Amino acid sequence: MESIITARGLAKSYNSLRAVDGIDFEIKTGECFGFLGPNGAGKTTVMKIIYCFLPPDEGEVKVFDIDVKKEPWRIKSRIGVLPQHENLDPDLSVMENLVVYARYFDIGKNASVPIAWEMLEFAEIKEKADVNILKLSGGMKRRLQLARALMNYPELLVLDEPTTGLDPHSRHTVWDKLNQLKEQGTTLLLTTHYMEEAEALCDRVAIMDRGKIVATDSPKKLMERHGGNLEHVYLTLTGRPLEA
Ligand SMILES: Nc1ncnc2c1ncn2[C@@H]1O[C@H](COP(=O)(O)OP(=O)(O)OP(=O)(O)O)[C@@H](O)[C@H]1O
Ligand SMILES: [Mg+2]
Repeated sequence: MESIITARGLAKSYNSLRAVDGIDFEIKTGECFGFLGPNGAGKTTVMKIIYCFLPPDEGEVKVFDIDVKKEPWRIKSRIGVLPQHENLDPDLSVMENLVVYARYFDIGKNASVPIAWEMLEFAEIKEKADVNILKLSGGMKRRLQLARALMNYPELLVLDEPTTGLDPHSRHTVWDKLNQLKEQGTTLLLTTHYMEEAEALCDRVAIMDRGKIVATDSPKKLMERHGGNLEHVYLTLTGRPLEA
């Protein structure tokens, strides 16, 4: 399988804090890859560098074989992003949020409305099309953000804690959707604090702690190597309890 993302010697600091401390990883086309790790480990910083929101300080990161520092716009047009923190426009309806977002990809209103219906149907939130964002539940907002991330038919989907705060039923719905996308050939990159989610979705995971990757492998191989379930592996490798 060819690589869709490669990172070599990646580092990023915020003032004196080295949030990402020289990491290497490679993500294969078509796989689902998860970053696990405690609060503050550096997961979101890595996601932001990949979706070209932040430039790396050191190292080389290529997405679709394109350097994130050189031609970020060519990467952005081909990826979908679900950020950790909700950033829907509260002044707009569900449908309007999607149509406005599509402009970012040069998709005009006539073209974007049918795509928006398609994605709202996929995310099971079609019946809320005319509702204002402020009237949605947390789970509905998350599904809408997933619909929004799909407006440009991305080859790679970056999901930063896609199911944090969702009830078990909503979480399983999102898992089903992500598995469907994977079956259709979309590469998935996600972060999660739920070990069950990592086991349900991820072909491979990287466990991060204090800016470094401490292990990368399939959940199965990590469990064989360290014994116990994935939560046990996580606790062994990060030496701290789980934080949600
Ligand atoms: N804009 C910023 N300015 C200063 N420090 C930051 C900024 N963003 C993140 N940090 C710090 O960088 C470190 C890594 O943060 P990051 O958000 O990447 O962690 P994370 O693994 O995503 O954590 P969480 O699981 O809580 O989302 C943390 O110590 C955080 O406080
Ligand atoms: Mg984060």
